[in-house]
Amino acid sequence: MTKDEVLKLLKNSGGEYVSGEKISRELNITRTAVWKAINSLRSEGFTISSATNKGYRLAVEGVHLSRAALSARKKTVIGGELHFFESVTSTFDKLAEFEPKEGLTVIAAQQTSGRGRLGRNWDSGRGGGYFSFMLLPPIDADTAPFITLICALAVQRALSEYADCKIKWPNDIVCGGRKLCGILTKTSLTENEVENVCVGIGINVNNGGFGGELANATSLKEICGHEIDENKLFERVASELDRAYYRESRADVLSDYKTVCANLGKHITVHYANGKRDIPGVCTDILPDGSMNVDTENGTINVNSGEVSVKGIYEFERK
Ligand code: BTN
Repeated sequence: MTKDEVLKLLKNSGGEYVSGEKISRELNITRTAVWKAINSLRSEGFTISSATNKGYRLAVEGVHLSRAALSARKKTVIGGELHFFESVTSTFDKLAEFEPKEGLTVIAAQQTSGRGRLGRNWDSGRGGGYFSFMLLPPIDADTAPFITLICALAVQRALSEYADCKIKWPNDIVCGGRKLCGILTKTSLTENEVENVCVGIGINVNNGGFGGELANATSLKEICGHEIDENKLFERVASELDRAYYRESRADVLSDYKTVCANLGKHITVHYANGKRDIPGVCTDILPDGSMNVDTENGTINVNSGEVSVKGIYEFERK
């Protein structure tokens, strides 16, 4: 589309003015078409200044989520239909308001009732990345739990561009023993058929002052020492989600997952939600169904739910 080409040209000018004549010559379009494209970009939220005898200049984009910057991202299936909101209760609530569609995504700059695992709250102030997306069948009920691992690996890959991070089974992304990202997966079943899987991802990007569940958290800003472009980060995560979910075999995902899993070979403690006693042991394997094997003093147990503490990483606290 012409406006996308005009946008690309303005972006490549490094914040300098580009004359209307140059745009029209390079793209082989009329001056009227240039003017229409500029107006269309402005209506999408891009700040483009114009000056007589100089032409047009794209304002340097900020680091925070914006409709304009998100609309310039590389196209992916996950996030293909993307709805951006300044504030929502939870991106899960908003997602449920739309017609189900593969890859449908809601992203928000802030959540007023962000939800975490085990019924906890998710601290969702401005500066974080909060989004939920939907996957539709074909997914059979047995492979649904593996989606959690696929998503964790995809996010870990995207975040490793900024920080040396690992996955704490099943799907926390941690850096230096502190939590950088949490993932919550909800599977809707009808009989034994999966109707859809909704995945919610919360990344600590430029936010801070964490409380509650995130008291032991860190952010990319804290790790890198500067603010991170939240729009670029979303683009990277969406692209890694597409790669891991649509293009890689489950065996390859599992093998890569194991290389960055903070639990494997470590002394861990399994905490069950139903008040059963905590079980210490050593994590020996992650299985294709997403569960974990743990060697305990009473033999090997297989764990597919509950919470796990790993020595050196923030501890699990029973509520
Ligand atoms: C966890 O407890 O580790 C999972 C946290 C998941 C938070 C994300 S933020 C986007 C989506 N919307 C929510 O309300 N929760 C998830």
